Amino acid sequence: MQSLIPDFEYRLKLERLKIGSESIEVECLKSLDETIDALFSYLERGGNPALLEELCPYFGVVWPSARALSEFLVEQSDIELKNARVLEVGCGLAIPSMIASRLGAIVTAADFHPEVEKFLSKNLERNRLRNIRYVSLDWTNRAFAEEERYDLVIGSDILYEKTHPVSVARAVSSWVKPHGTVIIADPARPYLQQFVDQMRDLGFSAQTDTRRADGKDIFLLIFRN
Ligand SMILES: C[S@@+](CC[C@H](N)C(=O)[O-])C[C@H]1O[C@@H](n2cnc3c(N)ncnc32)[C@H](O)[C@@H]1O
Repeated sequence: MQSLIPDFEYRLKLERLKIGSESIEVECLKSLDETIDALFSYLERGGNPALLEELCPYFGVVWPSARALSEFLVEQSDIELKNARVLEVGCGLAIPSMIASRLGAIVTAADFHPEVEKFLSKNLERNRLRNIRYVSLDWTNRAFAEEERYDLVIGSDILYEKTHPVSVARAVSSWVKPHGTVIIADPARPYLQQFVDQMRDLGFSAQTDTRRADGKDIFLLIFRN
């Protein structure tokens, strides 16, 4: 696919993360706010300021929820990750995907932002991870169907807009196997309860865990059907 912002230059930095006993190094945005400002100016110069919403670079930073979900995956012992098929929805920099892969899962990372694949492939190379597949996937696209569903569907900080509770619940519930697990990490955003209610309506029971990451309380919702 041709880039919508071919000569926009992201200012980047390297971040080293320690997740339990695992170490990950990712290239990420130096500053989210500065990138948004720079991207807005770039799009305005090209006469396309309205594209900012579509191209907003939320994917490019390590959100506390991603860290909390990754730590949870390392520490938990209830869910067998070795050889499990895992799908990460709205993956951004895909830290939980990298951790799941290190723990032996067969991982598909997915996002709808056109720049995610480029960042991911560089970061996979940097961490010598080869067994993560990337798919460009909008969670409002109900047509995405795989022959086999996933044992585990994960996502972090993906409930930040009004439409997300319904669309994310419909998507993850259709992509997880019967008797599979969905884990969503969220920093108590206003739409979290609505998402939990949606998942219950779709037949899932919920268990909650909390943990601190980067000075924030993060909720981990574990759903089973
Ligand atoms: C706040 S960021 C979180 C990124 C990553 N999960 C993390 O916690 O570091 C939200 C992510 O959801 C993605 N996203 C938003 N709407 C989406 C949609 N409709 N389909 C797929 N991904 C979407 C964004 O591109 C972005 O990567």
